[in-house]
Amino acid sequence: MGERLQQRDNRHTRQGPRLIVALDFPAVRQAEELAAKLEPTACRLKIGKELFVRGGPQLIERLQARGFEIFLDLKFHDIPNTVAAACRAAAELGVWMVNVHALGGSAMMQAAQEAVAAVSTRPLLIAVTVLTSHDAASLRELGLPEPAVLVPQLARLARQAGLDGVVCSAQEASLLRAREGSSFCLVTPGIRPAAAQADDQRRVMTPAEALAAGSDYLVIGRPITAAPDPMAALASILDEIAG
Ligand code: C5P
Repeated sequence: MGERLQQRDNRHTRQGPRLIVALDFPAVRQAEELAAKLEPTACRLKIGKELFVRGGPQLIERLQARGFEIFLDLKFHDIPNTVAAACRAAAELGVWMVNVHALGGSAMMQAAQEAVAAVSTRPLLIAVTVLTSHDAASLRELGLPEPAVLVPQLARLARQAGLDGVVCSAQEASLLRAREGSSFCLVTPGIRPAAAQADDQRRVMTPAEALAAGSDYLVIGRPITAAPDPMAALASILDEIAG
Protein backbone atom coordinates (compact mmCIF):
# COMPACT_ATOMS: atom_id res chain seq x y z
CA MET A 1 0.00 0.00 0.00
CA GLY A 2 2.78 2.40 1.01
CA GLU A 3 4.66 1.58 -2.17
CA ARG A 4 1.54 2.12 -4.26
CA LEU A 5 0.94 5.54 -2.70
CA GLN A 6 4.59 6.37 -3.26
CA GLN A 7 4.21 5.53 -6.95
CA ARG A 8 1.17 7.76 -7.22
CA ASP A 9 3.03 10.64 -5.56
CA ASN A 10 5.79 10.39 -8.14
CA ARG A 11 3.42 10.42 -11.07
CA HIS A 12 3.18 13.20 -13.58
CA THR A 13 -0.10 14.88 -12.87
CA ARG A 14 -3.37 14.34 -14.69
CA GLN A 15 -4.35 17.91 -13.89
CA GLY A 16 -3.71 20.58 -16.49
CA PRO A 17 -4.65 21.05 -20.12
CA ARG A 18 -6.87 18.40 -21.69
CA LEU A 19 -5.87 19.36 -25.21
CA ILE A 20 -2.82 17.65 -26.70
CA VAL A 21 -1.56 19.22 -29.93
CA ALA A 22 -0.08 16.64 -32.33
CA LEU A 23 3.18 18.09 -33.69
CA ASP A 24 2.98 16.18 -36.98
CA PHE A 25 5.71 18.04 -38.87
CA PRO A 26 8.53 16.65 -40.99
CA ALA A 27 10.95 19.33 -39.76
CA VAL A 28 12.04 20.20 -36.24
CA ARG A 29 12.03 23.91 -37.12
CA GLN A 30 8.31 23.82 -38.04
CA ALA A 31 7.47 22.09 -34.76
CA GLU A 32 9.39 24.66 -32.74
CA GLU A 33 7.84 27.56 -34.67
CA LEU A 34 4.39 26.25 -33.81
CA ALA A 35 5.32 25.67 -30.16
CA ALA A 36 6.48 29.30 -29.97
CA LYS A 37 2.92 30.37 -30.86
CA LEU A 38 1.24 28.13 -28.25
CA GLU A 39 0.85 28.47 -24.48
CA PRO A 40 1.85 25.55 -22.21
CA THR A 41 -1.02 26.48 -19.89
CA ALA A 42 -3.47 25.77 -22.75
CA CYS A 43 -2.14 22.53 -24.23
CA ARG A 44 0.31 19.68 -24.06
CA LEU A 45 2.32 18.51 -27.10
CA LYS A 46 2.49 15.11 -28.80
CA ILE A 47 5.71 14.03 -30.51
CA GLY A 48 5.45 11.03 -32.84
CA LYS A 49 7.94 8.79 -34.60
CA GLU A 50 8.97 11.08 -37.48
CA LEU A 51 9.60 14.15 -35.35
CA PHE A 52 11.38 12.15 -32.65
CA VAL A 53 13.68 10.50 -35.19
CA ARG A 54 14.56 13.94 -36.54
CA GLY A 55 14.66 15.97 -33.32
CA GLY A 56 15.58 13.40 -30.67
CA PRO A 57 15.67 13.98 -26.92
CA GLN A 58 17.13 17.47 -27.48
CA LEU A 59 13.86 18.61 -29.07
CA ILE A 60 11.92 17.26 -26.09
CA GLU A 61 14.24 19.10 -23.72
CA ARG A 62 13.81 22.38 -25.61
CA LEU A 63 10.01 22.08 -25.60
CA GLN A 64 10.04 21.19 -21.91
CA ALA A 65 12.21 24.27 -21.27
CA ARG A 66 9.38 26.31 -22.83
CA GLY A 67 7.09 24.78 -20.18
CA PHE A 68 5.33 22.13 -22.29
CA GLU A 69 4.51 18.63 -21.06
CA ILE A 70 5.19 16.00 -23.71
CA PHE A 71 3.26 12.93 -24.83
CA LEU A 72 5.95 10.77 -26.50
CA ASP A 73 3.87 8.77 -28.99
CA LEU A 74 6.31 6.06 -30.07
CA LYS A 75 3.92 3.08 -29.58
CA PHE A 76 6.55 0.62 -28.35
CA HIS A 77 5.95 -3.06 -29.29
CA ASP A 78 8.73 -5.60 -28.71
CA ILE A 79 9.77 -8.26 -26.17
CA PRO A 80 9.08 -7.22 -22.55
CA ASN A 81 12.71 -6.50 -21.66
CA THR A 82 13.23 -4.23 -24.68
CA VAL A 83 9.98 -2.31 -24.20
CA ALA A 84 10.66 -1.89 -20.48
CA ALA A 85 14.09 -0.41 -21.26
CA ALA A 86 12.63 1.97 -23.87
CA CYS A 87 9.88 3.09 -21.46
CA ARG A 88 12.44 3.68 -18.72
CA ALA A 89 14.51 5.82 -21.13
CA ALA A 90 11.39 7.82 -22.04
CA ALA A 91 10.52 8.28 -18.36
CA GLU A 92 14.05 9.51 -17.67
CA LEU A 93 13.53 12.20 -20.32
CA GLY A 94 10.77 13.50 -18.05
CA VAL A 95 7.96 13.06 -20.57
CA TRP A 96 4.41 13.34 -19.22
CA MET A 97 2.95 10.41 -21.18
CA VAL A 98 4.35 7.45 -23.14
CA ASN A 99 2.63 4.57 -24.92
CA VAL A 100 2.96 0.92 -25.99
CA HIS A 101 0.90 -1.43 -28.18
CA ALA A 102 -1.47 -3.56 -26.11
CA LEU A 103 -0.96 -6.29 -28.73
CA GLY A 104 2.50 -6.75 -27.20
CA GLY A 105 0.64 -8.64 -24.47
CA SER A 106 0.23 -8.60 -20.69
CA ALA A 107 3.83 -9.51 -19.83
CA MET A 108 5.15 -6.70 -22.03
CA MET A 109 2.71 -4.16 -20.55
CA GLN A 110 3.52 -5.24 -16.98
CA ALA A 111 7.25 -4.91 -17.67
CA ALA A 112 6.67 -1.43 -19.09
CA GLN A 113 4.60 -0.40 -16.08
CA GLU A 114 7.24 -1.65 -13.62
CA ALA A 115 9.95 0.20 -15.57
CA VAL A 116 8.20 3.59 -15.49
CA ALA A 117 7.17 3.12 -11.84
CA ALA A 118 10.84 2.88 -10.90
CA VAL A 119 11.60 6.36 -12.29
CA SER A 120 11.17 9.33 -9.96
CA THR A 121 8.94 11.31 -12.35
CA ARG A 122 6.73 8.48 -13.52
CA PRO A 123 4.96 9.30 -16.80
CA LEU A 124 1.42 8.22 -17.51
CA LEU A 125 1.68 4.92 -19.42
CA ILE A 126 -1.07 4.15 -21.89
CA ALA A 127 -1.70 1.50 -24.56
CA VAL A 128 -2.84 1.64 -28.14
CA THR A 129 -5.54 -1.00 -28.56
CA VAL A 130 -6.24 -1.46 -32.28
CA LEU A 131 -4.87 0.95 -34.88
CA THR A 132 -7.69 2.80 -36.61
CA SER A 133 -6.12 1.80 -39.93
CA HIS A 134 -7.38 -1.75 -39.21
CA ASP A 135 -10.88 -2.94 -40.05
CA ALA A 136 -12.57 -6.31 -39.48
CA ALA A 137 -11.11 -7.73 -42.73
CA SER A 138 -7.49 -6.74 -42.02
CA LEU A 139 -7.75 -8.11 -38.46
CA ARG A 140 -9.28 -11.37 -39.77
CA GLU A 141 -6.28 -11.71 -42.08
CA LEU A 142 -4.12 -11.64 -38.93
CA GLY A 143 -6.34 -14.22 -37.19
CA LEU A 144 -7.74 -11.58 -34.84
CA PRO A 145 -11.36 -10.78 -33.94
CA GLU A 146 -13.17 -7.64 -35.12
CA PRO A 147 -12.45 -4.27 -33.45
CA ALA A 148 -15.69 -4.34 -31.41
CA VAL A 149 -14.38 -7.47 -29.65
CA LEU A 150 -10.65 -6.80 -29.67
CA VAL A 151 -10.64 -3.16 -28.45
CA PRO A 152 -12.46 -3.82 -25.12
CA GLN A 153 -10.41 -7.00 -24.57
CA LEU A 154 -7.10 -5.17 -25.04
CA ALA A 155 -8.27 -2.23 -22.89
CA ARG A 156 -9.10 -4.68 -20.08
CA LEU A 157 -5.67 -6.32 -20.37
CA ALA A 158 -4.01 -2.89 -20.27
CA ARG A 159 -5.82 -1.97 -17.06
CA GLN A 160 -5.06 -5.34 -15.48
CA ALA A 161 -1.37 -4.85 -16.34
CA GLY A 162 -1.45 -1.60 -14.33
CA LEU A 163 -1.44 0.85 -17.23
CA ASP A 164 -3.10 4.23 -16.78
CA GLY A 165 -5.33 4.05 -19.84
CA VAL A 166 -5.62 3.66 -23.60
CA VAL A 167 -5.72 5.62 -26.82
CA CYS A 168 -9.15 5.06 -28.34
CA SER A 169 -11.59 6.65 -30.74
CA ALA A 170 -14.15 8.93 -29.13
CA GLN A 171 -16.82 6.48 -30.40
CA GLU A 172 -15.34 3.83 -28.06
CA ALA A 173 -14.95 6.18 -25.09
CA SER A 174 -18.33 5.73 -23.42
CA LEU A 175 -18.16 1.91 -23.56
CA LEU A 176 -14.58 1.83 -22.20
CA ARG A 177 -15.44 4.41 -19.50
CA ALA A 178 -18.37 2.23 -18.37
CA ARG A 179 -16.31 -0.98 -18.41
CA GLU A 180 -13.00 0.25 -16.97
CA GLY A 181 -14.10 2.91 -14.49
CA SER A 182 -13.54 6.59 -13.87
CA SER A 183 -9.80 6.45 -13.15
CA PHE A 184 -8.92 4.77 -16.48
CA CYS A 185 -7.45 7.41 -18.75
CA LEU A 186 -8.96 7.74 -22.26
CA VAL A 187 -6.97 9.64 -24.88
CA THR A 188 -8.89 10.31 -28.08
CA PRO A 189 -7.71 11.48 -31.52
CA GLY A 190 -10.10 12.01 -34.45
CA ILE A 191 -11.41 15.27 -32.95
CA ARG A 192 -12.73 18.07 -35.11
CA PRO A 193 -14.15 21.41 -33.95
CA ALA A 194 -17.72 21.93 -35.20
CA ALA A 195 -16.60 24.19 -38.09
CA ALA A 196 -13.48 22.25 -39.16
CA GLN A 197 -12.98 19.85 -42.06
CA ALA A 198 -12.52 16.15 -41.30
CA ASP A 199 -9.28 15.75 -43.40
CA ASP A 200 -8.58 12.00 -43.63
CA GLN A 201 -10.28 11.14 -40.32
CA ARG A 202 -13.40 9.06 -40.96
CA ARG A 203 -15.41 9.03 -37.74
CA VAL A 204 -14.89 12.37 -36.04
CA MET A 205 -16.41 13.93 -32.93
CA THR A 206 -16.35 17.52 -31.75
CA PRO A 207 -14.25 18.31 -28.66
CA ALA A 208 -17.37 18.78 -26.51
CA GLU A 209 -18.90 15.50 -27.74
CA ALA A 210 -15.69 13.58 -27.03
CA LEU A 211 -15.42 14.98 -23.48
CA ALA A 212 -19.10 14.18 -22.87
CA ALA A 213 -18.47 10.61 -24.09
CA GLY A 214 -15.84 10.19 -21.37
CA SER A 215 -12.57 11.25 -23.01
CA ASP A 216 -9.92 12.66 -20.65
CA TYR A 217 -7.55 14.10 -23.25
CA LEU A 218 -8.18 15.22 -26.82
CA VAL A 219 -5.41 14.79 -29.40
CA ILE A 220 -5.83 17.47 -32.07
CA GLY A 221 -3.47 18.03 -34.97
CA ARG A 222 -4.35 19.82 -38.19
CA PRO A 223 -7.23 21.99 -36.92
CA ILE A 224 -4.54 23.74 -34.84
CA THR A 225 -1.25 23.05 -36.66
CA ALA A 226 -2.61 24.10 -40.07
CA ALA A 227 -4.54 27.14 -38.78
CA PRO A 228 -3.28 30.60 -39.77
CA ASP A 229 -3.32 31.56 -36.07
CA PRO A 230 -2.78 28.33 -34.08
CA MET A 231 -3.29 29.92 -30.63
CA ALA A 232 -6.56 31.50 -31.82
CA ALA A 233 -7.69 28.09 -33.15
CA LEU A 234 -6.82 26.52 -29.80
CA ALA A 235 -8.63 29.28 -27.90
CA SER A 236 -11.72 28.82 -30.05
CA ILE A 237 -11.68 25.06 -29.29
CA LEU A 238 -11.47 25.86 -25.57
CA ASP A 239 -14.41 28.28 -25.97
CA GLU A 240 -16.36 25.60 -27.84
CA ILE A 241 -15.77 23.18 -24.95
CA ALA A 242 -16.70 25.77 -22.32
CA GLY A 243 -19.84 26.68 -24.24
O1 C5P B 1 -4.45 16.12 -37.64
P1 C5P B 1 -5.24 15.19 -36.77
O2 C5P B 1 -6.08 15.91 -35.72
O3 C5P B 1 -6.07 14.20 -37.59
O4 C5P B 1 -4.13 14.35 -35.97
C1 C5P B 1 -4.47 13.29 -35.10
C2 C5P B 1 -3.23 12.72 -34.46
O5 C5P B 1 -3.60 11.58 -33.71
C3 C5P B 1 -2.16 12.27 -35.45
O6 C5P B 1 -0.88 12.43 -34.80
C4 C5P B 1 -2.47 10.79 -35.64
O7 C5P B 1 -1.34 10.05 -35.99
C5 C5P B 1 -2.93 10.42 -34.22
N1 C5P B 1 -3.79 9.22 -34.15
C6 C5P B 1 -4.97 9.11 -34.87
N2 C5P B 1 -5.73 7.96 -34.75
C7 C5P B 1 -5.32 6.98 -33.95
C8 C5P B 1 -4.14 7.09 -33.21
C9 C5P B 1 -3.38 8.25 -33.34
O8 C5P B 1 -5.37 10.02 -35.58
N3 C5P B 1 -6.07 5.91 -33.81
